[in-house]
Amino acid sequence: MKKALVTYFSASGVTARAAEALAQAIGGDLYEIRPAVPYTSADLNWMDKKSRSSVEMADPSSRPALADGDAPVADYDTIFLGFPIWWYVAPTIINTFLERYDFRGKTVVLFATSGGSRFGQTAARLKPSVAADTKLVEGRVLNGCLSADELRSWAQGLGL
Ligand SMILES: Cc1cc2nc3c(=O)[nH]c(=O)nc-3n(C[C@H](O)[C@H](O)[C@H](O)COP(=O)(O)O)c2cc1C
Repeated sequence: MKKALVTYFSASGVTARAAEALAQAIGGDLYEIRPAVPYTSADLNWMDKKSRSSVEMADPSSRPALADGDAPVADYDTIFLGFPIWWYVAPTIINTFLERYDFRGKTVVLFATSGGSRFGQTAARLKPSVAADTKLVEGRVLNGCLSADELRSWAQGLGL
């Protein structure tokens, strides 16, 4: 496998830890997707229908702004893309990210952390945000403590 880029969005640190472990295990480079406006704990309250995350996730066309435009996507053929599962799918800032850069001809491998949900419709909801010739791979939910060996053999097993 050629050197990959491991990108991730993490609101409360769990996906960040998974991304760091993955990047280390596969010798990849790490890039954090940061929102222009960071999410506060009130923003993340899924029990409040009016919280920022509830409002964004109730509107699939919402595209929360990114803080930066410098992800080195152009330099890699394979990009791992990690995020927390929100309301059974990816946060809409992941759509923003996919629409912001040129992923044509590249392979994007999804990974996530969650409270227990699996991918469900996650990949289907992201597909319209990439070009037809972007290979979107439903990777895995990396919940729990995965060893470097497990992460490496999973990534190598993708055959990229
Ligand atoms: C707004 C919101 C919605 C969530 N929805 C789900 C969900 O549908 N299913 C699930 O298993 N976990 C859900 N979670 C839990 C997160 O996926 C989980 O805590 C994740 O590991 C957080 O990652 P982070 O620390 O990188 O942000 C939700 C969390 C938030 C804040």
